[in-house]
Amino acid sequence: MGADPVRLEGRDKVTGTARYAYEYPVSEALYAWPVASPFTKGRLTLVNPDEALAARGVLAVLWHSNAYRLQSRENEELYLLQEPTIAYRGQFVALVVADTLEAARHGADLVVLEADTQPHDAVLTDRHPGLYRPVRVNGGFQSDTAVGDFDAGMAGAAVRVDERYETPAEHNNPMEPHASIAWWDGDELTVYDSTQYPTAVAEGLAGLFGIETQSVRVLAEHIGGGFGVKGGNPRPAVVLAAMAARHVGHPVKVALTRQHQFANVGYRTPTIQRVRLGADASGQLTAIGHDAISQSSEVQEFAEQTAVLTRWMYAGPHRRTTHRLVRLDVPTPAWMRAPGETPGSFALESALDELAMAGGWDPVELRIRNDAELEPENGLRYSSRNLVACLREGARRFGWERRDPRPRAHRDGDWLIGTGMASSSLQARAQPSTATVRAHPDGHFHVLVNAVDIGTGARTALWQIAVDELGVAPERVRISIGDSSIGRAQGAGGSLGTASWGWAVTKACRELCEQLKRDHRGSVPAAGLEVSADTTADLKTLQPYARYSFGAQFCQVRVDLDTGEVRVDRMLGAFAAGRIVNPRMARSQLIGAMTMGMSMALLEEGVLDTQYGAYVNRDFATYHIAACADVPAIETYLMDEEDTHLNPMGVKGVGELGIVGAAAAVANAVYHATGVRVRELPIRLDKLL
Ligand code: MOS
Repeated sequence: MGADPVRLEGRDKVTGTARYAYEYPVSEALYAWPVASPFTKGRLTLVNPDEALAARGVLAVLWHSNAYRLQSRENEELYLLQEPTIAYRGQFVALVVADTLEAARHGADLVVLEADTQPHDAVLTDRHPGLYRPVRVNGGFQSDTAVGDFDAGMAGAAVRVDERYETPAEHNNPMEPHASIAWWDGDELTVYDSTQYPTAVAEGLAGLFGIETQSVRVLAEHIGGGFGVKGGNPRPAVVLAAMAARHVGHPVKVALTRQHQFANVGYRTPTIQRVRLGADASGQLTAIGHDAISQSSEVQEFAEQTAVLTRWMYAGPHRRTTHRLVRLDVPTPAWMRAPGETPGSFALESALDELAMAGGWDPVELRIRNDAELEPENGLRYSSRNLVACLREGARRFGWERRDPRPRAHRDGDWLIGTGMASSSLQARAQPSTATVRAHPDGHFHVLVNAVDIGTGARTALWQIAVDELGVAPERVRISIGDSSIGRAQGAGGSLGTASWGWAVTKACRELCEQLKRDHRGSVPAAGLEVSADTTADLKTLQPYARYSFGAQFCQVRVDLDTGEVRVDRMLGAFAAGRIVNPRMARSQLIGAMTMGMSMALLEEGVLDTQYGAYVNRDFATYHIAACADVPAIETYLMDEEDTHLNPMGVKGVGELGIVGAAAAVANAVYHATGVRVRELPIRLDKLL
């Protein structure tokens, strides 16, 4: 650990030999193409498959009257093709199976649909009559919290900020869209699936098809990105593939298009947030309030935990956070990189910048002054909290002291130059996992863990952990991941993969070494030796600590005086995330996440067409994502941090931390450059003129 070998599968990926879900050769496979509802809300009155079935190559059309009856309704989103109800435009209402992809796609165009439609309501507002307080928000957090007397704290403050911030719908866009191949052998189901969470896919499919989890095998060797949208549970593509395979008695392939990716798999909810901050004359926060509104669909509740990070970021005696939700006629939102913290930190960290301006304080110093000794709302000790170290080190490396704090103070020809900063943080968690390690008499070891590498380098990090624990030459250790038959394991999400899987790998390796020493005098018996470990019980022994990673982000932008064009010159992040298993890949994760945050600040916006109740920009021509030319010099600095209260490796996770606060750092820099405070992302040039 701590060395930075290149990815084990790097060569396979860049030479095109790594296989992704859709690419496996499966004999006699057929192809399915989903039919999306052209209606926004209502009830199908007719699905006429005749013309489709008459087309060359088309073998079957599935819809609510003939599709396999799913056995579970636990997840309404996956209750596909069961009912004539239409809850949002683009919802999958039928599936065409054919002998080629092209025939299936053509067939899907020929399915005739009629519906009784109703007026829809797809617009999120802070006055929507349907707003309600969810029982809990995602992550199991309380919707609302209150500590002290917030109103009194605000009233007594010397300096106040009370502002509204908005973030738009944002769409996860992994390079590889969702794809699956499914086939049945009696009641045994096998799928290749582009997923972040094979264990959840196996369990979810078992429930949907009324079979044992052991009867489902999910294979996920290489995944072309996810950002959350392939996490949590089975996603529609794999369910449709399994339904179709059952229907036609053949293996079936389903690949969603980039366009589907915008309507059928999840996206980050738009948010409307109000942040209120009150500080005394010295810049000590007295009151911290964060009220967040987001949307879900009529299909099911998804409650973004937008204001949750405000509960642990800064000290302050009087506090309140609330979440309200409204169910609209829109697709169901889902996880997107650092869900909750990402939109929440934009509002909170922008508001702190506004407070710094209002009070005449340096933004870095203001955050340092409000560092928390104990987690402010529950009084827990932090397992480690090095926000201040990140702020100081980041400021030093960035050259923050050269800054004139006044807006529009720096100029370079026709460009206004500005700098801004924000804090980052994310929960550091772990979930139970299993792992197995085999010692072979020839001196080789094989580690098996049902982890997934969605491009993070997880496979390599876990291999490094195993090599260290086994204390042998790296070439003697090989690792297998991405196969539900290996055993239960956490998914690749919540930045808790390395902590969760690595813990199980560590435990299995330690037990193997112990058994070798104790029972076999240190040498591997001729029959080999295999040890499996499960960390479920170990996780229960964790002491109550507040466990978070922290970071500080700095950004320099230039804004064209005449056009309002914003270019990011430079970003720098200093992060404290426990032990870093592989600095090369940790840096890559952080740089990727900072880039995504910059993209969020300046470019990404799902545009709702209110007439049709649908997000209309559905490709990279219309939904803009930072491209290489937009990405400036991004530097990351990883602090040394030893934390013994986490897991045997002392890791916190780095997948999401880098996006938290990144958009606020950019927005704060734009304010510093121009004097214009943009509180509704993205910061398009028209908002600066
Ligand atoms: Mo991530 S949004 O936890 O996959």
